[in-house]
Amino acid sequence: MATATSTDSCDLEQLTIHGLHALVFGFGYKVGIVDFFLKTQEPCTAEDISQGLGLKLRYVQEWLGTMAAIRIVKVHEDGKFSLPYEPGTIKFCGVVAKCLQALGEVWPELEKAVTGTGPQGYGYTPKILQLVDEFAVVKLQKEWFQKLLYPVLELKAEGMHTVLDLGCGSGRITRHLATMYPKCSIHGVDVDQGSIDRAKRELISSGLTNVQYSCIDGGKLPREWTEKFDFVFLISVLHDACDVDAILDEVKRVLKHDGYCAATDPGVSSNTKDLIDDSIAMFHMPFSLFSCLPRSLMESSSVGYGVGWGYQRKKTAIENHGFHVVQVGDIDVNTVQERVVFTK
Ligand SMILES: C[S@@+](CC[C@H](N)C(=O)[O-])C[C@H]1O[C@@H](n2cnc3c(N)ncnc32)[C@H](O)[C@@H]1O
Repeated sequence: MATATSTDSCDLEQLTIHGLHALVFGFGYKVGIVDFFLKTQEPCTAEDISQGLGLKLRYVQEWLGTMAAIRIVKVHEDGKFSLPYEPGTIKFCGVVAKCLQALGEVWPELEKAVTGTGPQGYGYTPKILQLVDEFAVVKLQKEWFQKLLYPVLELKAEGMHTVLDLGCGSGRITRHLATMYPKCSIHGVDVDQGSIDRAKRELISSGLTNVQYSCIDGGKLPREWTEKFDFVFLISVLHDACDVDAILDEVKRVLKHDGYCAATDPGVSSNTKDLIDDSIAMFHMPFSLFSCLPRSLMESSSVGYGVGWGYQRKKTAIENHGFHVVQVGDIDVNTVQERVVFTK
């Protein structure tokens, strides 16, 4: 039997050391040290950071020393420090590293859920929801919309379309679409009341008039919405949902006969062997273990999706509901990817 050798396995010692440093980097991001570097853009001293942020000097020095040891922070000849990375990379890595705190907080819940007699799963914590929102900001990059959402909206001639953002969270993506497509009327729904309350507050300050939000379970949409929508978006929803079948049944009912639905989820394969060395799987699967999978297992009837459910099983579930998967762009529909577009 083949056994893993040191050349085909991850360096476990490096991994644990890097994990510890990611935690320290995330902490520095949370308390503002990382932002301080971004704002000053010049090498600075521990004293500059301590005074600028009102942080105790000794802690700042220890943070800098920890980050210097692993070569995240650069130490200059004159003893000053800098953070030699692109601002976009620093922000993205800061948000990700800060997640370690939120994941650590649900660790006891995961420990209970994983044991045979423990609960099936658990919901989002406020911190995890905040992270989902922060990721939406990171995701709200032109390229992501250009690649995944705008081409779907272009499947129908421009017009006064009705759009449902099912599982909208605090509605950042809904509001972005509403800004880009002012003729469209967009309804964002989410089963989480706190997220909808936040979405409504943000909507008031946005001044947009073509968006509304409601707290509704996507598996139980209003009766009067039959054949109402030209487009339905399920952005990072299905792999987190307890009852994908109920949601897909409802999408089928509320979508117009010539409407399109797009479901995006982390683009990983359903086959475990294909996950090896896959950067998308490496990034998303830890979040899934601590949050998406337990969220999808919250109800007693849940089967448990999570990111590991994967592209092929998601596509099959969609097709089993009688939808036709359509190719949008040049990636073949049988290739593992983030988005599935389908019609009735
Ligand atoms: C990972 S978040 C994504 C939020 C948002 N679409 C985004 O990309 O920023 C998944 C969202 O789906 C919502 N959700 C899960 N199951 C749902 C259901 N049955 N009906 C409505 N919303 C649901 C969750 O409450 C959560 O806000």
